[in-house]
Amino acid sequence: MKTIIEPFRIKSVEPLRRTTPAEREKYLKDAGYNLFELHSSDILIDLLTDSGTSAMSTAQWAAMMRGDESYAGSESFFRLKKVAEELTGFRHVIPTHQGRAAERILFTVMCREGDVVPSNTHFDTTRANIEFRGSRAVDLPSPEAADTQSRHRFKGNMDVDALEKLIEREGAAKIPLVMLTVTDNSGGGQPVSLENIRAVHKVASRHNIPFYLDACRFAENAYFIHQQEPGLDRLTPKQIAQAMFSYADGCTFSAKKDAFANIGGLLCTNDDRLAQQERNLLILTEGFPTYGGLAGRDLEAIAVGLEEVLDPDYLEYRIASTRYLGRHIADHGVPIVEPPGGHAIYIDAGRMLPHIPRHEFPAQALAVELYRHAGVRGVEIGSVMFGEHARHELLRLAIPRRVYTQSHIDYLVEAILEVAENKEKLRGLRIVSQPEFLRHFTARFEPL
Ligand SMILES: Cc1ncc(COP(=O)(O)O)c(C=O)c1O
Repeated sequence: MKTIIEPFRIKSVEPLRRTTPAEREKYLKDAGYNLFELHSSDILIDLLTDSGTSAMSTAQWAAMMRGDESYAGSESFFRLKKVAEELTGFRHVIPTHQGRAAERILFTVMCREGDVVPSNTHFDTTRANIEFRGSRAVDLPSPEAADTQSRHRFKGNMDVDALEKLIEREGAAKIPLVMLTVTDNSGGGQPVSLENIRAVHKVASRHNIPFYLDACRFAENAYFIHQQEPGLDRLTPKQIAQAMFSYADGCTFSAKKDAFANIGGLLCTNDDRLAQQERNLLILTEGFPTYGGLAGRDLEAIAVGLEEVLDPDYLEYRIASTRYLGRHIADHGVPIVEPPGGHAIYIDAGRMLPHIPRHEFPAQALAVELYRHAGVRGVEIGSVMFGEHARHELLRLAIPRRVYTQSHIDYLVEAILEVAENKEKLRGLRIVSQPEFLRHFTARFEPL
């Protein structure tokens, strides 16, 4: 059979609420045209994020019942540690309440003022945590990533020559770690090849610089490698994931993505001294090292999710369903970041709405219009989120794992194509208030 189906059936459902265009107009106005300010009950299809929004499996819910809520020495922690160790090979597995907590602890311990941390593309919380520490976050994407329309297979790769030059220019002593985000969320959900991971590892280790993975979507990245990197289809996604981790000295991980958990994160390393410092900080802000800001039941859900996510049937469906959305809009003229990534489709709003200049936020304007028209929420990944660091003006439509069905995606395709038909009528926005960090969460806008 050629049809790739959802490899699960649905046991528990959550109703969706329809709203009228007039209601949505009011909600938008009240929210200051910032979709983070909407009530979720006013949204029909929520593609704000794939983070923490997964549908958990029966096995995960069952495991949660055996959650050991002991303050210290929880059996749930040891079950999670065993799974994470087997997958990543890292000796120290430190649970945190989510990915950014792992980032904050890592950068607090490793970075000093004036340091530089390169990545293929830093995610917004990663960049903000580095900058909050007084260090500089530098993006070194591969040259292919500059053109949203190029169909290079591994557009998440880091520019290794640029990394060499940066180390030469800044000096290795100023670079406490090199990171690679797999897949490259802010760069379009594009995968990083195993060859690139190996190359970055080689450069970093030649200069004695620790190399970290931001491993939020390690399984989707592993599946792309399995499908597309020459000679690697003979390895299972799990073997590929293990190979990816084998080149790194540590990782940060948000369990809200490729562990199907609704909350949680991990900070892993092989460095005993570093792990001790990290645990000291963990106790201060997250909790004892065998729960790190999570309930025992959350640790159980993550342990089961980390194994489930590497099921080849699931990954085949996951990548195919994201591609289905991408192809159905792109082949009808809506420019997306090509080729479709793993967890999301990114509409290139800068290209789609050339009449709206960057400083009038074309991707935010498109996000607002898609909600107004069809009750669908996406998120701007452009000048609102990244300010002057934005490389593109993108509207990200992130697909929650195991949540929406084919007909939801067909509705979405119809909605996007209808909005595209009237794209000349769309107008930009003006920011009326914004905070200093992570301004996309609370900035307020006014239509122009
Ligand atoms: C690449 C990447 N890194 C880090 C994070 C932060 O993880 P969390 O939301 O669990 O704090 C995210 C979240 O979306 C992400 O996509």
